[in-house]
Amino acid sequence: MQARENWGSRFGFVMAAAGSAVGLGNIWKFPYVTGENGGGAFLLLYLAFILIFGVSLVMAEMAIGRMTQKNPVGAFKALAGGAWPLVGYLGVATGFIILSFYIVIAGWTVAYMVFMLSGELATTDSSQIANTFTTLIGGSFWPVALAVIFMLATCGVVIGGIGKGIERASRILMPALFVMLILLVIRSVTLPGAQEGLAFYLVPDFSKITGSTLTAAIGQAFFSLSLGMGALITYGSYLSRHERLPGSAFMVVGLDTLVAILAGLMILPAVFAYQLDPGAGPGLTFITLPVVFAQMPAGTIFGFVFFALLFVAALTSAVSLLEVVVAWLVDEKGMSRKSAVLTAALVCIALGLPSALSQGAVDSLVFGGQSFLDWAAQLTDILLPLGGFFTALFVGWVMGPRLVDEISNQGEVPFKLAGLWLFVCRFIAPLGIAWVLIAGFL
Ligand code: PHE
Repeated sequence: MQARENWGSRFGFVMAAAGSAVGLGNIWKFPYVTGENGGGAFLLLYLAFILIFGVSLVMAEMAIGRMTQKNPVGAFKALAGGAWPLVGYLGVATGFIILSFYIVIAGWTVAYMVFMLSGELATTDSSQIANTFTTLIGGSFWPVALAVIFMLATCGVVIGGIGKGIERASRILMPALFVMLILLVIRSVTLPGAQEGLAFYLVPDFSKITGSTLTAAIGQAFFSLSLGMGALITYGSYLSRHERLPGSAFMVVGLDTLVAILAGLMILPAVFAYQLDPGAGPGLTFITLPVVFAQMPAGTIFGFVFFALLFVAALTSAVSLLEVVVAWLVDEKGMSRKSAVLTAALVCIALGLPSALSQGAVDSLVFGGQSFLDWAAQLTDILLPLGGFFTALFVGWVMGPRLVDEISNQGEVPFKLAGLWLFVCRFIAPLGIAWVLIAGFL
């Protein structure tokens, strides 16, 4: 058997894991879900969930991956057997579902690169922008074609494997995205009328918290951290034995959270400055940003570069989603990497069709007040915390101190918070997640 490929460096791993975490979840989903759920109070809940469950479970997943050097299904099989591998299967299934709608949204960013260059959206008339956007996503050819194009790009990177594909792309592009984001935040918060948006975003109004706010916030925390479906188990499985896990986990969580907070600062003040509706839903980022670019010197270029980087951020996340499925097919089903990639891609495209066509092309794909795509996204808000719930139980009660040894490299790396970490995995995370999920249903 070939030796398992490893990341080239610690920086490479952290960038790849951060690349998985930072994606559409931060820049497309976070601002609109915050807008829909009343602003500041939602932000606070999201941050609380990241701090309470997020950090500990990120570390747990990375450790499971490194310890077993396996995909999520194989990892649970190797460590425990019984019914536990079902948690791995749940992860793989969730991966398919997320990827199926992820490629649709990411496809929109491809169209936006072209729109920026052609000047199609170079206007401050937001109703015109909204029009162009709804026409784009409501078609029946382009939404599908763009999703396929994005899927092909994802396949290209994943076929290249770990070091040459995933790591090399993440190392350069993630820092570039960050710089771009800062520029846009500066533009947005200095717009006349931005204060109202800042207040909406930063001053919590607790009367806005309901059961569904809780589900949305925990779902967002997990989605954004790529947590609860084995993506981090998979990435951890390519880590070499002497990496320091606690530091890497903190870095990834910190970067991801920072990017989400910045994305909120980029979108929400502009939404208020231009009197748009913060509760507009999935189109929010796509309708707000063009107005901001239209008001910037060299906005066309900035706009193009921004959507190109958003494309890349989505790509590095999609790559990690696909990698979960591919690692499972390669490790457990004995497929070659190439045929695993192609099989997974075809299934995802087929699953993605109803999402792609649910934005106006096929009326029957809108039911119960929302589109098929909304339903798919909402389902993952439940599936990911559920995966996290089982992972926490597994880590707390089945692995326990064995995983503490793994995290601390058998005592070589200081892990002062080991006791607290174990307590979180045993009690706080399972009880907390269960409570939030139940409260969301009530
Ligand atoms: N974290 C990614 C984002 O924010 C999405 C993702 C979820 C990636 C789960 C992998 C696993 O866009």
